[in-house]
Amino acid sequence: MTTATRILTDEMTAEIEALFPRYPTRQAVTLPALHIVNKHLRYVPLQAVVEIARLLQLAPAEVQDTLSFYGFFKQDAPAGRTRAWVCRSVSCALRGGEEILEHLCHQAGIEPGQTTPDGRLTLEYAECLGGCDFAPCMLAGDDLHKNLTRESAEAFLRNLE
Ligand code: FES
Repeated sequence: MTTATRILTDEMTAEIEALFPRYPTRQAVTLPALHIVNKHLRYVPLQAVVEIARLLQLAPAEVQDTLSFYGFFKQDAPAGRTRAWVCRSVSCALRGGEEILEHLCHQAGIEPGQTTPDGRLTLEYAECLGGCDFAPCMLAGDDLHKNLTRESAEAFLRNLE
């Protein structure tokens, strides 16, 4: 029988354990723990779910339930170093948001939800990003890109690290 390689580093474990005093139960640490692992790995593989569950004294299924409730966490492979969400809710859709996403995907050679082979970018759909006055919008990392055009979208791609 082989033992799965440990995926949570000591640093991740320490960050998760540091949250214990701030929450009423270990179960309440589930979502923050998922975010910590995601911050370090850009995804949360199944082995990480098992290890988080062990730390929180939960069944792996309980952690997996929380993870799968949110569309945010990737589980099969790391997201790109930049993760960009293009809004497709009504204001942005009316002002060409879906065409912008299509253009970005075409330029990057991927489909929505995919990551470029060089790992630089993941492109995804988003629902309203709260910037309707500036539609169409895209959230990339912590930056909200407003009034997107094909040109500004191309400039965004060129400026990726
Ligand atoms: S509809 Fe796109 S930001 Fe609100």
